[in-house]
Amino acid sequence: MASPDTDVSDLVDSLSLDEKCSLVRGAADPEGTATGYVPGVPRLDIPEFRLADGPLGIRIPGRSSTAFPASIAVAATFDPELARRQGVAMAREAKASGQHAVLGPGLNLVRVPNCGRNFEYYAEDPVVTADFAAAVVEGLQSEDVIATPKHYVANNQETKRLVVSAEVGERALRELYLPGFEAAVEAGAGSVMTAYNRVNGTHMSDHRRLVTEVLKDEWSFDGYVVSDWFGTESAVGAATAGLDLEMPGISLEALHEAFGIDPDAEMLEEGDDESIPAGETTTPRFATELKAAVGRDRAGLDRLDDMVARILGQMARIGLLDGDWDDGGALDAPEHRDLAETLAARGTVLLKNDDGALPLSDDADVALVGPGVAEAMLGGGGSSEVTPAREVSALAGIRARTDGSVVFEPGVERVVTPSFFDDESADAAGDDEDAGDDFPGGKTPDIDAAVDCAREADVAVVVVRDATTEGADRETLRLPGEQDELVEAVADAADRTVVVVQSGGPVELPWRDSVDAVVESWYPGQADGDALASVLYGDADPSGRLPVTFAPEESYPTASEERFPGVDDEAQYDEGVFVGYRHFDTADADDEPTYPFGHGLSYATFEYGEAEARGDDAVAVEVTNASDRAGREVVQAYVRPPAVAGVERPTRELAGYAAVELAAGETETVELSLSEHAFRRYDDAEGWTVDAGDYVVEVGRSSRDVRVETTVSR
Ligand code: GLC
Repeated sequence: MASPDTDVSDLVDSLSLDEKCSLVRGAADPEGTATGYVPGVPRLDIPEFRLADGPLGIRIPGRSSTAFPASIAVAATFDPELARRQGVAMAREAKASGQHAVLGPGLNLVRVPNCGRNFEYYAEDPVVTADFAAAVVEGLQSEDVIATPKHYVANNQETKRLVVSAEVGERALRELYLPGFEAAVEAGAGSVMTAYNRVNGTHMSDHRRLVTEVLKDEWSFDGYVVSDWFGTESAVGAATAGLDLEMPGISLEALHEAFGIDPDAEMLEEGDDESIPAGETTTPRFATELKAAVGRDRAGLDRLDDMVARILGQMARIGLLDGDWDDGGALDAPEHRDLAETLAARGTVLLKNDDGALPLSDDADVALVGPGVAEAMLGGGGSSEVTPAREVSALAGIRARTDGSVVFEPGVERVVTPSFFDDESADAAGDDEDAGDDFPGGKTPDIDAAVDCAREADVAVVVVRDATTEGADRETLRLPGEQDELVEAVADAADRTVVVVQSGGPVELPWRDSVDAVVESWYPGQADGDALASVLYGDADPSGRLPVTFAPEESYPTASEERFPGVDDEAQYDEGVFVGYRHFDTADADDEPTYPFGHGLSYATFEYGEAEARGDDAVAVEVTNASDRAGREVVQAYVRPPAVAGVERPTRELAGYAAVELAAGETETVELSLSEHAFRRYDDAEGWTVDAGDYVVEVGRSSRDVRVETTVSR
């Protein structure tokens, strides 16, 4: 049988110019299910091709699917195998919905703690980001669904995302911002989505060096490059830079109509200085300019043929061209629900636990306080929104788990997460009596009532949340509304106070010294209440670890306006590679982190034996669970490079990690492979360089809790 490549090149030769142009741009989906749609060419049995959001689950207008936890929660598991399984599950849900590509994973580095889309991304560290991006890609592609790592590259803020230029040096690009995408390509991603922003002055959709010379030539990427929605600046500029597919390929009005997107959604308003600059347009470029442009010369026609071949090549790869695409799959399958709960529970981070405040006893009487406890914290606003078929709120989860009483008080006004799809999400979620404006049982926001019920209970559990969204960054890392006041008031009155934080990234916790325990559960998705209850009552050991640093807002390296959100549409990335713990661990950092990268407590206690180097790229250490209950430890290894004159390097860089489950008293020898990424550095003149010398390998529980060390020589 002819190889798909042969079929594809024959097909390209058989297509007319108009047919070729119709395959490299989006159109309105007659079925109205896809986020991006490419009509086929029936004359040549080329089927239609559908792309659907997003990183937290499959979004189909008016339909429900499994709402997985936020990507940052998945990264907090430090267990990429779970992410691979999520990729498989999302692929099966995509297939069940007739979607051939998923617009995810989102993997931009968490550079700015305020970024409205941090919840959709993984970490401040490139090794964690690369591991999780690759795992999700492997899962998706293993089920013949095309993965679309996004947003290539340096889309690290939402403020003026359509125009801001990331002024970033080659070393930071190579060491921090590109590795996740390179790993995703190596894992077999069939497509990559370009970012809206500029990099060093050039829009990513027009960025020939990064799209063609790096992504396609250096990394041998043979899939297609798709624009973000309305994210093209020109037809010829984009096509010659290496863009292969323009989305959505239709006008803004047609998009609103076809997909029911809220016309007020900031990201799409023309002329607003926060989004598409005045004078620019969302009129599709390829539909109006490409044919004329490519018709002019051989080079244009060759590029168009390559664009078509890349798209058809991925369709052939998943079996679409020979009618072999398995559109089986399953929506809301039990194993998907279980996985969503496992991800949420494993990603839950125990930040503080004084005097064994947690786990709760089964018969404890609980005062459950917080404006959001009656609805699951599904995610942030924007294109990643998913409407689940079922969801468990904190209130429902704790009521189902405890033998004690549960009294609920909202305490303060509801915190609303903006939505791009208000009407649609309400419809698909059904008439959930807990949703909407009023609280269950006719409760009203009243801090005094919350304090009174906390005073009467054995323990007060206060659930607080932030509200982040695509299209906007957070103006502050403080929690919205009067939630901080609520926590302080409850903590003053209660015998024991546990605070559960549901956030999309780092937040300030000014009351942390006044409470007994703090749990970070991120956006846990549809399984919110069940996952939370399993951790609070000790059924699951809190095994999450911070994939981002929590610190005072003004201490982050991006706290200056020039760096974020930028001045005159330019964000200066002159912190270089000193992002996150790479900054906080340097000698001149002004502040200590509140909670460092990799931090997370367990209900068990772990003891570390000596670390032993295994060659020059692995380390082994004996870890013992010295407690009387099962526990899950994330063993982490960081590399400290030798000093080299004239070279500034981070004090330490994460090289490897492993999440291990240990029964009470159990000892396991954990072997960690050490990523080359932690040894090498990018030299603008020499390229990748590994300096000769002794590298200290630190092994421990976090970037700041190092238990043992060894050395490897390079
Ligand atoms: C949005 C997002 C992108 C999403 C796409 C389609 O603007 O930036 O992540 O996949 O459009 O909804």
